[in-house]
Amino acid sequence: LLQIDHYDPHDDLKTDSVWFSLIVPTYNEGKNIAALIRLLTTMLDQVLWDNYELIVVDDDSPDLTWKIAQGLMSEYPQLRVMRRCSERGLSTAVIRGWQAARGEILGVIDGDLQHPPDILLSLLTQIQQGADLAVASRHVGEGGVSNWSLTRRFLSRGAQILGLLLLPNVIGRVSDPMSGYFLVRRQTLIGKRLSPLGYKILIEVLGRGNIDKIAESGYVFRERKEGNSKVTWKQYIEYLHHLLRLRLSQGRVGRLKRSLKIPISQLIRFCLVGLSGVFVDMAIFYLFSDPNALGWGLTRSKIIAAEVAIINNFFWNDRWTFGHITANQPGWSMRLKRFLKFNVICLAGLILNVFILNFLFNVVGINRYLANFIAIGLVTIWNFWLNIKLSWRT
Ligand code: GDD
Ligand code: MN
Repeated sequence: LLQIDHYDPHDDLKTDSVWFSLIVPTYNEGKNIAALIRLLTTMLDQVLWDNYELIVVDDDSPDLTWKIAQGLMSEYPQLRVMRRCSERGLSTAVIRGWQAARGEILGVIDGDLQHPPDILLSLLTQIQQGADLAVASRHVGEGGVSNWSLTRRFLSRGAQILGLLLLPNVIGRVSDPMSGYFLVRRQTLIGKRLSPLGYKILIEVLGRGNIDKIAESGYVFRERKEGNSKVTWKQYIEYLHHLLRLRLSQGRVGRLKRSLKIPISQLIRFCLVGLSGVFVDMAIFYLFSDPNALGWGLTRSKIIAAEVAIINNFFWNDRWTFGHITANQPGWSMRLKRFLKFNVICLAGLILNVFILNFLFNVVGINRYLANFIAIGLVTIWNFWLNIKLSWRT
């Protein structure tokens, strides 16, 4: 049973309680583990003295990571090692670690040095300041990835968007729902039955925990120097399965609506800006395509008109609709990033628009203008929702 309970000091294995328990799940990390443990303990010793524990949960790695870790225990008194022989998998390893943990604050970090240990300090501070969950994120502040291929970035973002569509109230709460580097209060998980699948434990915590206040710290996902990633196609399938299962377990529409929390005044501004874009589009379209003006071809003119309208809309949204957010995110590179995201989302919206229009007109048989009106309405909501989750995040 994968359930987190109160820490009971009378349990045989557990002795004194500590404030913070950090789990390091490992599978064939023999070349990384010693360096990671040294970095973590040097840092944590300074801020928490001996009020923490590190728990390596190893799935009986063929490279004997567990044995190497056990060898370090005499040098590092805060270190514990769990060798699992009957169970496998990243998520269950983390939960088993938390079950054995004695801390009030539970955390997880990868064992391959791809998660920079120093971010732990800001995560701990955020928890001390009252957050229930503190997530290290690749998508806020200075966060990012080192040199991921376009394919991997695309897959990662695609997985996130899919999650937003299927489980907006879970995936939409953090900028990096795939993160495997976070801290959470034990209190929020007590009595909850966790049944994660595969890799994405944070989704399970967000979906089933009683989590109110969330904080995020940006970090750069480093390149792996030693050993290999264990991610294969299987993990993507498991992720989908996981999303669907959580989705089904949630049900209730009322809760979904409440947690969507659509900011109405921003939506109204967004729609007004969208309307201004229609006029810009029309004007440019006229200018390029009309035989009395430039007289260019229809498609070419339309593409230019759409792009100019997108630029117009971006300008007003960045200044006005989401001005309260962009005030804290100045700088041209940030602005360019927001613009590119907005552009991609709008273009995807355009494709969606064409599909919906065709569906309503040809399949459902609705009047073409009404069909177009509905399509525009739906796509506006799509654009708005994805943009507040990806381009203009609070
Ligand atoms: N105990 C145990 N059992 N540990 C495992 C297992 C397992 O079956 N599979 C992987 N691990 C450990 C690895 O040894 C490593 O310490 C950590 O889990 C992450 O595994 P990687 O295979 O290195 O994952 P990654 O680098 O592709 O993915 C990371 O990035 C994601 C963000 O995109 C992980 O940090 C994910 O947690 C994170 O969500
Ligand atoms: Mn890794």
